[in-house]
Amino acid sequence: MESDLFNQEKTKNYKKAIIVGASSGMGKELCRLLIRDDYTVGITGRRENLLKELQSESPARIFYRAFDVRDMSKTAKGLRELIKELGGLDLLVLSSGTGFINEELDPEPEFQTIYTNVTAFTDIMTYGYRYFQKHPPGHLVGITSLGGLRGNPSAPAYSASKAYQAIYLEGLRLKNRKSGDNISITDIRPGFVDTDMARGDKIFWMAQPEKAASVIFRAIRKKKRVAYLSKRWRFIAVLMKLLPRSVFEKL
Ligand SMILES: NC(=O)c1ccc[n+]([C@@H]2O[C@H](COP(=O)([O-])OP(=O)(O)OC[C@H]3O[C@@H](n4cnc5c(N)ncnc54)[C@H](OP(=O)(O)O)[C@@H]3O)[C@@H](O)[C@H]2O)c1
Repeated sequence: MESDLFNQEKTKNYKKAIIVGASSGMGKELCRLLIRDDYTVGITGRRENLLKELQSESPARIFYRAFDVRDMSKTAKGLRELIKELGGLDLLVLSSGTGFINEELDPEPEFQTIYTNVTAFTDIMTYGYRYFQKHPPGHLVGITSLGGLRGNPSAPAYSASKAYQAIYLEGLRLKNRKSGDNISITDIRPGFVDTDMARGDKIFWMAQPEKAASVIFRAIRKKKRVAYLSKRWRFIAVLMKLLPRSVFEKL
């Protein structure tokens, strides 16, 4: 009986997703939702113990690879192996990211942010786009931030890196439209979410990662171009974009 169930699991036609950065936070919660929605999921992160723990929740349908996204050769190998294990790929979600409150403007945290949020982001997005060009259709999802809409005096590299990500995703969306590659591109722009990433003392309207993941999940199903975690945050986004520089700089 047990082996029958196992064989059913193996032969069922699951959708296939990879979440880069699923050892904690929104990526982890999204993995749980995708598993409930008939996906098999490849998860990554550096903390192998946490990946293993998440995998144990659905051992037949979660695969993992531990690697640091800043090491491009390991990333390519990890993604390649996961795609092989999953038997293809329909959805690639990039949730890995870092950021530092850096009042001293120490260069090291700024560069660490760029390596993860800009260089590794580009590495993974180009990998995903090129993969889906060869194996359409596909769906690429990036978790950018509301913080990318304006400069942040306490975390300049973080806000700049998130602006880069949002513009990069827009570029890919236009590229797809021009070329007809059949690749959907979704940009998720959270406000504050209660994870390790949420640092600083001016935190308000904090969402729980489970709630954030459910919004991301809906945005994936609807193949939304851009999604905010709530109407409130969408309103703040519009306001941030419209606010004249002279007013913004006085806040
Ligand atoms: N939390 C917020 O308030 C907020 C708001 C707006 C946007 N975001 C964005 O949302 C995304 C997800 O963050 P989260 O809030 O869910 O935080 P989180 O719990 O810290 O998750 C970040 C994930 O990225 C992985 N990661 C970070 N650096 C990595 C590296 N060098 N190599 C491999 N994996 C790496 C982490 O895994 P390991 O540590 O195991 O490597 C972890 O799984 C990030 O891009 C973040 O910028 C967050």
